[in-house]
Amino acid sequence: MMKDECTLRALAARHGQDHIFAFWGQLNAEGRAALLAQLDQIDFPLMDRLARQWVLDQPAPEVFKDIAPVPAIPVASKNDPAAREAWDAGEDQLRKGRVGIFLVAGGQGTRLGFPGPKGCYPIGPITQKTIFQYHAEKINNLERRYGCVIPWYIMVSDTNEAATRDYFEANRYFGLSPQAVTFLKQRMVPCMDENGRFMLEDPGRLAMNPNGHGGCIPAMVENNVLDDARRRGVEMLSYFQVDNWAVKVADPFFIGYHALRNAAMSSKVHRKREPRESVGVHCLCDGVYRVVEYSELDIYPQLLETDSDGNVVYYAGNPAMHIMSTDFVQSTYDRFDEFPWHLAHKKIAFLNPAGQLIKPDKPNAYKFETFVFDALRFAEHPPVALEIHPLGEYTPTKQFDGDNSVVAARQSMANLWGGWLERAGCIVPRKTDGDVAVPIEISPSFALDEEEFHEFSHGQEWEIGDGLAIAADGSITRP
Ligand code: UD1
Repeated sequence: MMKDECTLRALAARHGQDHIFAFWGQLNAEGRAALLAQLDQIDFPLMDRLARQWVLDQPAPEVFKDIAPVPAIPVASKNDPAAREAWDAGEDQLRKGRVGIFLVAGGQGTRLGFPGPKGCYPIGPITQKTIFQYHAEKINNLERRYGCVIPWYIMVSDTNEAATRDYFEANRYFGLSPQAVTFLKQRMVPCMDENGRFMLEDPGRLAMNPNGHGGCIPAMVENNVLDDARRRGVEMLSYFQVDNWAVKVADPFFIGYHALRNAAMSSKVHRKREPRESVGVHCLCDGVYRVVEYSELDIYPQLLETDSDGNVVYYAGNPAMHIMSTDFVQSTYDRFDEFPWHLAHKKIAFLNPAGQLIKPDKPNAYKFETFVFDALRFAEHPPVALEIHPLGEYTPTKQFDGDNSVVAARQSMANLWGGWLERAGCIVPRKTDGDVAVPIEISPSFALDEEEFHEFSHGQEWEIGDGLAIAADGSITRP
């Protein structure tokens, strides 16, 4: 039940945050209710702890005696007997309905500059199909292939919940069963100024941000999603980020290794191309499996080392794909008090005591987040790390152009699908640098991988022309 005004005022006062009622007298009933609802979700003792530990104290970074590259299973291929065994085990888990899919889509997506949930971005260069639709078509294919229902849990936040739900509703869940698609909302946490005080961005609204993707752990338990998954017989959740168009949403190799090794949490890793690539690094810090975030690389300069051939020594980049066993989600939730928080120094607009909106030109405040990969350190069995090649698995889309962009993702997918078409006997135009020169899309409902593409295309010779998109039923659209 929601706490009343009196209780919330007392709580705020006890924790030195009563200035948030400064403009109460100017608010109408609706504005007051909205402010109280925001306050009701704040864990005041936690925020006190974060203020003391991080803002007022500025702790020294953790020191490790030894940091080692994480040992990873090499890229899986069906020609390798061990990988084949993993593939078969993964398919078995899928057929038995033991796998759910967990998508984190609660972020603010500010860098892409798209006015809506990132998953609604029209990534398909010809079809304008969105990232969400591509993910949905993959699930659709897997359900058909393995004769199972794969529950899909989508984490959203206050910033995009309504728009995301409406989008799925308007598109009839892209043919998936609405009963198997569940939205769960992560919590928000207040931003703090450099004195540990909450900030108002409007007379009736605190500046807050989603609690990071680590917030999926409490969100799963507190929204009964974990119960729902277990009730359905799901034993593991295949986790990925919304901005990865290429992701293999439930990869049998990965699932199989996780199951065969009885892991609590597993991760895919990819070889970093250069030391400062904007990805976290999987490594063993004093023997404990960790991911050091790219923003923290300068604290541990050895992570930037290269060998005599120029290869990054701490090579294991984080494409943000994990598998978490449902029991592990519960046990991590049970000790969530120990879960680390990260803070970012940001420019955050705020109301001064006179009620004027101040837009700072340098960082003036802190934003707190949790990162899901910090759960890896709590896994009792060594986590499985499986190396992948980015082509066909990893196309992060953080901005429109440049590195990790929409443009780069479209090129990468054109190269992947162009390769399938070439090996099927088509002539695919290429640029001098070897990249495919025209836009190409292949619906994952039509074919999820090259093997399936050859099976369904029955030796058909596609005319590539200025580009083509192959739909779920094999029909063609041109740019
Ligand atoms: C992230 C990883 C980085 C990884 C890279 C791969 C973090 C801190 N770092 O970086 O290690 O190598 O992706 O592409 O995540 N999200 C939520 N709720 C939140 C915050 C984020 O659901 O409160 C979701 C976003 O919607 C997105 C994902 O988490 O799907 C990652 O967020 P993003 O800001 O893109 O992370 P990066 O800094 O790019």
